Amino acid sequence: MNTVDIIIKKRSGAELSETEISYLIEKYVGGEIPDYQMSAFLMAVYFRGMTEKETLTLTNEMIKSGDTLDLGAIGGIKADKHSTGGVGDKTSLVLCPMLAAAGIKIAKMSGRGLGHTGGTIDKLESFPGLTTNIDGERFIKQANEIGFVIAGQTARLVPADKKLYALRDVTGTVDILPLIVSSIMSKKLASGADIIILDVKTGSGAFMKSEDESFELARQMVALGRNAGRKTAAVISDMDEPLGFAVGNALEVKEAIDVLNGKNAGNLRELCLTLGSCTLLEAGLAESEANARETLEKCIDNGSALKKLADFVRAQGGDERAVYDTSLLPDAPYKIDVKSPHKGYVKALDAETVGRACIVLGGGRETKDSKIDLSVGIVLKKKIGDYVSENETLATIHAQDMAKAHEAEKMLLECYAFLDTTPQKKPFIKGIIR
Ligand code: URA
Repeated sequence: MNTVDIIIKKRSGAELSETEISYLIEKYVGGEIPDYQMSAFLMAVYFRGMTEKETLTLTNEMIKSGDTLDLGAIGGIKADKHSTGGVGDKTSLVLCPMLAAAGIKIAKMSGRGLGHTGGTIDKLESFPGLTTNIDGERFIKQANEIGFVIAGQTARLVPADKKLYALRDVTGTVDILPLIVSSIMSKKLASGADIIILDVKTGSGAFMKSEDESFELARQMVALGRNAGRKTAAVISDMDEPLGFAVGNALEVKEAIDVLNGKNAGNLRELCLTLGSCTLLEAGLAESEANARETLEKCIDNGSALKKLADFVRAQGGDERAVYDTSLLPDAPYKIDVKSPHKGYVKALDAETVGRACIVLGGGRETKDSKIDLSVGIVLKKKIGDYVSENETLATIHAQDMAKAHEAEKMLLECYAFLDTTPQKKPFIKGIIR
């Protein structure tokens, strides 16, 4: 078999065989196919796509490139959740403790933020002392004892995705459906949970900008998960503007804690209740969506979800007092209000630009090795549909450095657009695939 022939075959739009895809992945991970040939192949996929059969084969070959997790030693129903990535996305910090309080076992691997989207591992490190470097034995023990554990992804879990994702990131081949499906589903299937819940974002701050593409992404991932014998569901939600109000690691942790305290009833709570209800329905622990929501709301109201978060933070070496007293989380010294130059209704609030402003402040990374500041970020005061008077505060910037704060302020002023009349409200939850 010859790599150039496979590239040319894909370039001409033909369907690749299992043997050809298997050859490519095995030789690429083994270092026998160089990056420049794999880049050409990825670009051919970008323009020609892949059939669902090819995507399934690619996913399976990626799984075979490394270890798979065996969660058999954890009692009960194990669920995992994955987000396709967004701005202000602190969903796992609310959803996981809520589900653990409702009796589901969460044994999950998460990633760090890259580009304009954040990552759960960085957010969790806002708790002083907390580690996500959890070995296999401790991982299983904590899942059994507390019902909730999150570890950083090990190098041995789908190494093909690590290599391919890094290459996609620098060759303009991230936002293409078969590569996203295989990247996400290879990691989820290798992680061994019984239930996989997919949080698919759509809009300006998401990888998939159009609703049609996002629904197709969700449909293919659910089909692939079910094909592999896992209970899989997807919720498609809006990412035209950031999720919730806070963007930046410690600020997002504070907002998640507010939701777990029952203090914040916005879109973040709605998304977590929707994802959580899907999980309980897939687990057979609720008879109806209404019944599932009632169970989850009870876990917030009686404080058991918040207590799960505290138990989790303590078990992973963090200072659990910060769950009850958020002033113990990292806090930036400068708080600058961004004032509106116009009056009117907020028509748009570009999520990707807000994410980029957070990177400028030091709260996100451009490359895998960048150091980040957990204390900085942005708290939005006005979101789409809100009325704002001239000179009213649109957002508050939390910064360590005034020059960076002014740069972020300029970007934030550019990402707001205004209208004289109330914009039409679009639904936040676009659809559910179960
Ligand atoms: N998240 C992933 O894990 N992989 C992708 O390709 C895109 C988002």
